Amino acid sequence: MNATATENAANEPSAAAPTAAPARRKLSALAGLWPFLRPYRGRVALAFLLLSLSSGAMLVVPLAFRDLIDHGFVANAGIHGHFLALFGIAVFWAISTAGRFYFVSWIGERVTADLRSGIYHRILTQSPEYFETTKTGEVLSRLTGDTTLVQTVVGSSMSMGLRSTFQFAGGMIMLAITSVKLFAITAALLLVVVLPLIAIGRLVKRLSRESQDRIADTSAVAGEILNAIPTVQAFTQEQFEYARYDATVESSFASAIRRTRVRAMMTAAMIAGVFGAIVFVLWLGAQAVVAGSMTAGQLASFVLYAVFTAGGVGVIAEVWGDVMRAAGATERLVELLYAVPTIRAPAAPATLPETQQASVAFDHVRFHYPSRPQAAALDDINLDIREGETVALVGPSGAGKTTLFQLLLRFYDVESGTIRFNGQDIRELDPAQLRAHIGIVPQDAVIFSADAYANIRYGNTKASDEEVMLAARTARADEFIERLPDGYKTFLGERGVRLSGGQRQRIAIARAILKNPPLLLLDEATSALDAESEAFVQRGLEAAMENRTTLIIAHRLATVQRADRIVVFEAGKIVEVGTPAELLKSGGLYSRLASLQLMA
Ligand SMILES: Nc1ncnc2c1ncn2[C@@H]1O[C@H](COP(=O)(O)OP(=O)(O)OP(=O)(O)O)[C@@H](O)[C@H]1O
Ligand SMILES: [Mg+2]
Repeated sequence: MNATATENAANEPSAAAPTAAPARRKLSALAGLWPFLRPYRGRVALAFLLLSLSSGAMLVVPLAFRDLIDHGFVANAGIHGHFLALFGIAVFWAISTAGRFYFVSWIGERVTADLRSGIYHRILTQSPEYFETTKTGEVLSRLTGDTTLVQTVVGSSMSMGLRSTFQFAGGMIMLAITSVKLFAITAALLLVVVLPLIAIGRLVKRLSRESQDRIADTSAVAGEILNAIPTVQAFTQEQFEYARYDATVESSFASAIRRTRVRAMMTAAMIAGVFGAIVFVLWLGAQAVVAGSMTAGQLASFVLYAVFTAGGVGVIAEVWGDVMRAAGATERLVELLYAVPTIRAPAAPATLPETQQASVAFDHVRFHYPSRPQAAALDDINLDIREGETVALVGPSGAGKTTLFQLLLRFYDVESGTIRFNGQDIRELDPAQLRAHIGIVPQDAVIFSADAYANIRYGNTKASDEEVMLAARTARADEFIERLPDGYKTFLGERGVRLSGGQRQRIAIARAILKNPPLLLLDEATSALDAESEAFVQRGLEAAMENRTTLIIAHRLATVQRADRIVVFEAGKIVEVGTPAELLKSGGLYSRLASLQLMA
């Protein structure tokens, strides 16, 4: 069920355009929820039916009262029947209300669950560029806070609102039947009261969206700092961080209060206006009874209907604010839901033949990061990497080495030029298929909060325990994993906080080895290891690199001595290419760096 809603939402053709959804403001923002309600339209209809039944039962009650008052006391024989009928109506009302409550809440919970997973699904497909501008804490706040708001509305406010609308409309009709003249006066008065309130509702929605934005800001700040508490404490910046968080909390409070103030005024105006109108009409009705043109029972039922109508309006006023808040939240959620990733598979992606070989060609590649349009991170890169070759990328920090890996994984698209994988322009491939052929050990190894098995198996979820252990052995990770309290089953802590930097790196290497990809990318994969361990891991890696195309980024030149070729980067350009021996002789940047390092 879950997946259906997700796909439905993802396939909405009109909504795929990034500007289509947020452009509309108003209640219609809630229409963004329709793809999520559609799979459950049967239940929606059922809830609606129960809602009508319970409202109907409620509207019959005053009629029963009228008969009771006008005839019940006179004809002694009929009195039991009247009470029985009244009780029967109450039971019917109770059951249909319970049913409505259950189904409406069910729909609310279901839609929220689907919405959450649909958004999460979409977020996982976003390109790195998206996360450069969107804070993770903010996304989390949307996923929890905004969806909860939608749940409140779909799962309760909406049905309260509908019930009250029924109650209001039914009450009005019954009032009209009871006394046309009194009804006409009531209706005219209500119109004067209600119309201005709709305008205020719009304001509430805008304020509500603003308030949700401020809440998301607080999550963004907290999310960032929770990941860096040791750094905050080491630099004794607690006061600064308190102040920063407090400022966002205060601003979210202020914005919530602005919203609440408007809502409070709106509620007061609504209730006072509506009750004023009713009281005025009642006053007229009382005079009619005195004059004898109306029975006491009629006035009693008129009073009850008037109370229903007024109560209905009161609830609508309350709920209207909620609905408007949810419209604001939905707007944000729809934005997330339909955010189109910048890197996508083409409509008809080319397929890569299944092979254990990989060749890579960079042809006049030029690239700048989206956030730095003025500075090219890579400029006119030409490089052919043959099958099975081991190529080392060296050069000063910030020269663009990691950027080259990012482009190869197609986390970003080149500005000009082409990158080919096995002769195929990577823009013509499905990124997932391309990435399936590449194993990477990133500059900072990522460890998930799971045990060592699960962390290594991330490279290949189908691998057996034996294969995992073999990969760990190759990466020389077995020697420390076996000494952990529960061996491979030891929980490594969130972000691997229970491991040293070098241990994290070895887990990451084992993960890449287990993936067994044709192309292996190592970005400073052994930089956190001491010389002895590095030599060990290096030997394991060499075994893994055999018959495999490998690109190695390393600052320590001792680690790249065995590469087939070395490519030297400086400020986004390739300045030298050659075998280690050739480069040492040439007297260029590499030999300068090498003499500095190897002398020591
Ligand atoms: N996401 C990004 N947005 C904008 N600029 C970036 C981004 N990532 C890197 N850069 C910039 O691009 C340039 C190249 O960075 P890159 O990470 O490729 O360097 P590197 O050669 O790997 O350096 P190091 O050896 O320190 O890892 C740097 O100037 C860096 O500031
Ligand atoms: Mg780097």
